[in-house]
Amino acid sequence: RTGPSRISVIGTGYLGATHAACMAELGFDVLGLDVDQAKIDALSSGQLPFYEPGLEEVLTRNLANGRLRFTTSYDEVAEFADVHFICVGTPQRGDSNAADLTYVESAVESLGPRLARPTVVIGKSTVPVGTAACSAARLQTLAPAGDGVEVGWSPEFLREGFGVEDTLRPNRIVIGTDSPRVEAAMREISAAQIEQNIPFLVTDLQTAELVKVAANAFLATKISFINAMAEVSEAAGADVMQLAQALSYDDRIGGKFLGPGLGFGGGCLPKDIRAFMARADELGVEPALSFLREVDAINQRRRARTIDIARTLIGGGFAGRTVGVLGASFKPNSDDIRDSPALDVASTISSLGATVTVYDPEALDNARQVHPELNYAHSMLEAVRDAEVVLLLTDWAEFRDADPDELAKMVAEPHIVDGRNALDPTHWRARGWTYRALGRP
Ligand code: UDX
Repeated sequence: RTGPSRISVIGTGYLGATHAACMAELGFDVLGLDVDQAKIDALSSGQLPFYEPGLEEVLTRNLANGRLRFTTSYDEVAEFADVHFICVGTPQRGDSNAADLTYVESAVESLGPRLARPTVVIGKSTVPVGTAACSAARLQTLAPAGDGVEVGWSPEFLREGFGVEDTLRPNRIVIGTDSPRVEAAMREISAAQIEQNIPFLVTDLQTAELVKVAANAFLATKISFINAMAEVSEAAGADVMQLAQALSYDDRIGGKFLGPGLGFGGGCLPKDIRAFMARADELGVEPALSFLREVDAINQRRRARTIDIARTLIGGGFAGRTVGVLGASFKPNSDDIRDSPALDVASTISSLGATVTVYDPEALDNARQVHPELNYAHSMLEAVRDAEVVLLLTDWAEFRDADPDELAKMVAEPHIVDGRNALDPTHWRARGWTYRALGRP
């Protein structure tokens, strides 16, 4: 390989750690930076601080071949790299819907003064539109190299659980920049993907920032659309699963992200649509995104509805009742519990006086830290022991494949709420269960 081979990745959370390991896998020399020493120690010894299928192998392979290293030193990173990727988090602020840009700002403030030679800086963090231009101006003010520091923004579309695949084979690459040097660097870094005919789009900074939030807003809207249809189906006695299937054959609609159930959670969709609304407000176009308020509200209502169905099944209040919950992560194949619909439902039921026991294949340690009020079991069968109602809240394959007869032996009452439309109602009912789902008769 030739070209800009030395890459730094600033911020080694979910996005950064995946990006760093995958860039090394593509043959680049990569230095990952984080301010969290514990995270750097773990990554340096080949341990991932989170669950992501396939990533640990990529990490250990590239640590071993020397292409991947980690540090907490900005001096080292500035000295080492020709291209810096900013991959820090942009969580929701504590006091509003807006994005908290503290980590982006501190990366800029720390890196800027150390950029002594011409360098390319490419942001990947999801940011409110306008952040990239501000960061570019600030970096050039701070850097001894001045406008020799050139900035681009390249949003990241990776899904948790598919991080490696989505980074190595994304469905598109977007780079926002007006600098030919940034574009050239990005083409060089993306050579393997461009060769596979993966679309490579060059836009201005603002458009690139918007692409990311627009994509997430669309996905959230699609999920809430089908969940709104689930609400109507419930009221009308229709079956939203059949409805969704029938819609999916129209290829203008498509079947992906049309899964009705408990709705979306996680570290991205909920906070991204809220930050997008907050930004539209600042830009004076608040009405343009007011529909996202409904998207959010529909999504929240699914949680309340799930609790109502469970209450009906046990016939009354939750006080003193025993409830088994299957699932804690916000989606399967992840240990991420940020804004997890499953844990939200579980902890609400617990606050209503029930004894709630949760099982999840990967997320128990994370859940225990945030929700000490819940009980945790090490298997699906343990979680449902003596339960008067079972709630399936995350669609892990292990739950889809559950044997209704085995579960029936453990529970006090064979009542199940399928919050993800993951089970076959006919099969479960035939095995003696009272089966209820969202959006189905
Ligand atoms: C999302 C985007 O998909 C990704 O492109 C972006 O980069 C980050 O945000 P992720 O947060 O990993 O990725 O989760 P995703 O797989 O999109 O699922 C989001 C939520 O929607 C989950 O809680 C999932 O259970 C829910 N979901 C998904 C549904 O309720 N129904 C569906 O049909 C699909």
